[in-house]
Amino acid sequence: MTEQSPALQNLLTENRTFQPSEEFTQRANAKADLYDKADSDREAFWAEQAERLHWDTKWSQVLDWSEAPFAKWFVGGKLNVAYNCVDRHVEAGYGDQVAIHWVGEPGDTRDITYAQLKDEVCRAANALLSLGVTAHDRVAIQLQMVPEAIVAMLACARIGALHSVVFGGFSPTALRQRVDDAEAKVVITSDGQYRRGKAAPMKANVDEALAGAESVEKVIVVRRTGAEVPWTDGRDLWWHELVDGQPAEHQPEAFDSEHPLYILYTSGTTGKPKGILHTSGGYLTQASYTHHVAFDHKPGEDVYWCTADIGWVTGHSYIVYGPLSNRVTQVVYEGTPNTPHEGRHWEIIQNYKVSIYYTAPTLIRTFMKWGDEIPAKYDLSSLRVLGSVGEPINPEAWVWYREHIGAGRTPVVDTWWQTETGAIMISPLPGVTATKPGSAQRPLPGISAKVVNDAGTEVPHGGGGYLVLDKPWPSMLRGIWGDNERYQETYWSRFAAQGFYFAGDGAKYDDDGDIWLLGRVDDVMNVSGHRISTTEVESALVSHPTVAEAAVVGASDPTTGQGIVAFVILRGSAVDGGEEAVQELRNHVAKEIGPIAKPRQIMVVSELPKTRSGKIMRRLLRDVAEDRQIGDVTTLADSSVMDLISAGMKSGK
Ligand code: WT7
Repeated sequence: MTEQSPALQNLLTENRTFQPSEEFTQRANAKADLYDKADSDREAFWAEQAERLHWDTKWSQVLDWSEAPFAKWFVGGKLNVAYNCVDRHVEAGYGDQVAIHWVGEPGDTRDITYAQLKDEVCRAANALLSLGVTAHDRVAIQLQMVPEAIVAMLACARIGALHSVVFGGFSPTALRQRVDDAEAKVVITSDGQYRRGKAAPMKANVDEALAGAESVEKVIVVRRTGAEVPWTDGRDLWWHELVDGQPAEHQPEAFDSEHPLYILYTSGTTGKPKGILHTSGGYLTQASYTHHVAFDHKPGEDVYWCTADIGWVTGHSYIVYGPLSNRVTQVVYEGTPNTPHEGRHWEIIQNYKVSIYYTAPTLIRTFMKWGDEIPAKYDLSSLRVLGSVGEPINPEAWVWYREHIGAGRTPVVDTWWQTETGAIMISPLPGVTATKPGSAQRPLPGISAKVVNDAGTEVPHGGGGYLVLDKPWPSMLRGIWGDNERYQETYWSRFAAQGFYFAGDGAKYDDDGDIWLLGRVDDVMNVSGHRISTTEVESALVSHPTVAEAAVVGASDPTTGQGIVAFVILRGSAVDGGEEAVQELRNHVAKEIGPIAKPRQIMVVSELPKTRSGKIMRRLLRDVAEDRQIGDVTTLADSSVMDLISAGMKSGK
């Protein structure tokens, strides 16, 4: 059966709108005049948003764009990011408010107040200082969703060290690549993690990754599963032994607004992941502002839950920095959504009376598959705002989400942004926007985005093209770690004449001028909201001794958005292309990159479609992978290749 891409499905059929209720509008954080206010004086608007934070020294200039595309926001301002996320709430008298309702996968729980969080962050900051970590040093963190992950990030921020969080599911090779690139001095991890009811090792993988890693002086290990772990004396330290005895006082230092806050690696179109660099004042301003308006968050009233992992940018901006700077009370859940049963999320929402829930389309589609009767068993009446992020959401999933989770009452905000943008850029405003299923709709007040054609000219309403950001924004990336040239080349060269940032996404305006995202236009795949480059998977495949050549495409998938389909040519005829060989290759990719990169399907072929200049024509492979009529083959060096491949594909399925 031909799968139509969810995004396309939108455009062809969708025309419903959902007006916000009067009641919601009246109490909403965002008012309709916010757009005009921001448009009339963008810098004054952002200066006003920056007042959400505590500055030890006020800035003298809102934006310095004189060295574009290297931005400086709130120039001359000084602040401490961790102080803004923790201490100031305690000082304002909210020390007893719960910051984190933590839920472990096996069912254990911890409630952490702001006062307790402050003590923990101070202790961890003192611990890092005792190891000789100072401002500008890099600390790699590979941890599952335990409170220590958040504490560790804030402790780094507090002392001006950069964290580089590496998703817990990444392989030792991937971790090592990131540790080396950032020259991390310390790595923080755990003994193991609970995953689908089982304890899986973590420390052992870290050890494998760090063999011979020159920059790493210390490894701090959080005890979680109690599993036996290999130990390197002189290098390894237990978190509880190192941190618990530290003083709970630490004087936060005010750092420059442009002081680097963190590096987060993301896949690009080449094999090597890019270390996206974010800094302090502008990043925190936009994370805080967007969390306030896009989710209508009300401190002391709402219970918020973002289901992301801190290994991704969503976890950075919408679990740690945005929410905590806004004095959130939030749920942090360690495990998988179907452990021990498929109602786990709804049970947690019911127990903690979660009012704002932020998740990804791939999970929404999974919930749909599990069945309407599962959420129906729980009391979800506390919910009042639902959010979506990570990939285009198809209208069917959007409407299901609103109906079955939001009781047909809650606004749904589809938020478009990227690791690089640091915070939400395009999203409806709950209480203001009449929402449309499947559309992120409009840039937030203070943000500017356009859909342009090949020449960089804005397309008319109804037209499609490339999504660009035509004005700098406070939480924009400040570069790629160690590679300014790659930064300019990757994001600013496509529309250099116009000075636009090219996001890599295709988009379309509808007749009202609302934006509909259409997915990536480059060689980046989006699998369950995770960004993976085709080249990265190809390099993993060809690193296997049996593979001569590989081509990878993202094919539309009804649950994960895209699925990875690989075409490989094996070396010589000695290797058979049977099921076992294919399985071994899939495992090899998981080992090289991580289980998220495991191809859904691997096709053993004898040729790959190439142009006369030798470029692989992925477009044609995508046609095969999605079972479509094969497109124009006239530029192929050998046009019979496609017949061979599609014949093989049919028999291989
Ligand atoms: C890419 C960025 C932003 C945090 C999660 C992913 C896609 C993200 C949406 C959305 C359509 C979306 C884009 C973007 N994307 N959100 N609401 N609608 N597409 O961060 O790994 O940096 O990936 O995810 O293609 O470029 P990321």
